[in-house]
Amino acid sequence: MLCGCAAAASNFYNFKPMTSFPAWYFDESGMAGVDFEDAKQVEVYDRNQSISSPEKERVLVDRLGITERHTVIDLGAGTGNFAIQAALAGASVHAVDISQPMLTYARSKAKGVGAIDLKFHQAGFLSYQHQGELADFVVTKNALHILPDFWKMIAFQRMIDMLKPNGTLYLRDVIFSFPPATYESAIDEWIQEVAKPEGQGWTTKDFEAHILEEHSTFSWIIEEMLIRAGFEIIEANYIAATYAEYLCIKAS
Ligand SMILES: C[S@@+](CC[C@H](N)C(=O)[O-])C[C@H]1O[C@@H](n2cnc3c(N)ncnc32)[C@H](O)[C@@H]1O
Repeated sequence: MLCGCAAAASNFYNFKPMTSFPAWYFDESGMAGVDFEDAKQVEVYDRNQSISSPEKERVLVDRLGITERHTVIDLGAGTGNFAIQAALAGASVHAVDISQPMLTYARSKAKGVGAIDLKFHQAGFLSYQHQGELADFVVTKNALHILPDFWKMIAFQRMIDMLKPNGTLYLRDVIFSFPPATYESAIDEWIQEVAKPEGQGWTTKDFEAHILEEHSTFSWIIEEMLIRAGFEIIEANYIAATYAEYLCIKAS
């Protein structure tokens, strides 16, 4: 593997940190879609998002069974709702995001609610070098679509290496389960259903930009990638034709 980070059977990550990337490696700093390097956009994001809230993320933490015995990595942690709730449940949490303004915002939220065992890392799916105890859980929500499919596969491969044997991956994202032939109506219907008027949340323009500039893909592509990376899919929930979540175990 590129980063030389194959995990040993032990519970510790034993790679040599990768100090440089090949010239052809994906540049995660050139982000597609919303510019989360802009602190204003970060505030708007936190205000607009309806999918993630402290209450909803606490439900997910409990559903996954995260406790003080666990190490959790949240990739693309954003403004930190999930990472903070996992830390409040007592877990040792690594919140990873490529955007420093996102991490700054998340850190201040964590401080405000007394979430202590939470480490912030400015890094991406393809560059985060996990150190120390392997994770019991890797969680990534609403972020993986930022990568083209080839690089999603590499990201899954890297997630496998961050997990303990039998560790859990929870993935939630804009993922398409509609029949490909219906793509036009499926995307139009999705946008009509979820877009809000200007000033009240994500607009039609925002969702159009998602399709134009980001890399959401079909569920069957994601599923094949998960399996090829070495995950067993325990649960696949197609929340809507444009939205899915997966609970996977690192297959032994
Ligand atoms: C839509 S937000 C989702 C945040 C959070 N997971 C949630 O559910 O609310 C996407 C996040 O992914 C981050 N991001 C974008 N590209 C990334 C990359 N290559 N690696 C890690 N995080 C990335 C963005 O900075 C942003 O915080």
